[in-house]
Amino acid sequence: MDLPDTPWSEAMRLEVPVVSAPMGGVAGGALAAAVSRAGGLGMIGMGSSATTSMLREQLGHVGGLDRPFGIGLIGWRVRDEPALLTTALEARPALLSVSFGDDVTWIGRAHDAGCETATQVADLEGALRAVDAGVDVLVARGAEGGGHGRPRVATLTLLAQILDRVEVPVLSAGGIGSARALAAVLAAGAAGAWLGTAFAACRESLLPDGARQAMIAAHATDTVTTRAFDVAFGYPWPAHTPERLLRNAFTDRWDGREEEIDGAAVDALHTAIARQDYRVAPVNAGQGVGEVTAVESVATVIARLAGVIHPADSR
Ligand SMILES: Cc1cc2nc3c(=O)[nH]c(=O)nc-3n(C[C@H](O)[C@H](O)[C@H](O)COP(=O)(O)O)c2cc1C
Repeated sequence: MDLPDTPWSEAMRLEVPVVSAPMGGVAGGALAAAVSRAGGLGMIGMGSSATTSMLREQLGHVGGLDRPFGIGLIGWRVRDEPALLTTALEARPALLSVSFGDDVTWIGRAHDAGCETATQVADLEGALRAVDAGVDVLVARGAEGGGHGRPRVATLTLLAQILDRVEVPVLSAGGIGSARALAAVLAAGAAGAWLGTAFAACRESLLPDGARQAMIAAHATDTVTTRAFDVAFGYPWPAHTPERLLRNAFTDRWDGREEEIDGAAVDALHTAIARQDYRVAPVNAGQGVGEVTAVESVATVIARLAGVIHPADSR
């Protein structure tokens, strides 16, 4: 592979400084295992509707893996279901991330279990707080990114600001979907890149087929940040943490008018999800979605990110 090692990727025994982001309902054990086998660090993601039994099931895919892997949890889900954290720690991931929560006691527990810790931050203040709390690796998650996150600062600006102020390794996240973007953040000093959207439509992911096709059809300008789905589902996401996803009829109708979402709209949403109708149902994606042009294997995506396959050759 053409990508440079970084001190962090070497210490983690990676061949490429690429981490697949934990993505609830998308990044199961099969995706994580494929990324780790391809030389990156694959993360199993447990999202807003995660349960301990779902985590146990996905861990089955990494049971015999002879490569490091990680697990990513959501802070407020751990608060509501503490067994998620216990189960994650028992699996001995090389990296444990908990994002979007105020309780930092998980950091000490992860260290006691021998896991390195990471959390996603959206601004410099959040980065400094996380370092004070003892987090080993920061994920500087820029506003371009897919899924939940505070859309505060753009990826490259955020990375540069944080690198200037902290000593810990910093992974760059948000909108990174090409060899050029990856090379840029590594040149800026990132310890690696944390990519969600680039891996979401991979053959090994849990994403339903219709959602893969929606991602393939979408351009960089087709995403929005919204709370509309969180309000409809009744998830306790804080108001300042919307999600970036593909714009569709539901977001056109309800974004900014969340307090008007009624029972009929919620029923229609559940029906659309059951039918895999992504004109209404949500598909999380960042602005790098324009680089997703086919359902590919993880190995192919990593080869393209590493510059081994040129984008034009794989179309
Ligand atoms: C489909 C999807 C689901 C996601 N689910 C989660 C999640 O469950 N937990 C989490 O910490 N981050 C989640 N994220 C956010 C990622 O951790 C990361 O911040 C983001 O993917 C980076 O931006 P990118 O998608 O442009 O690469 C998700 C992102 C996507 C695209």
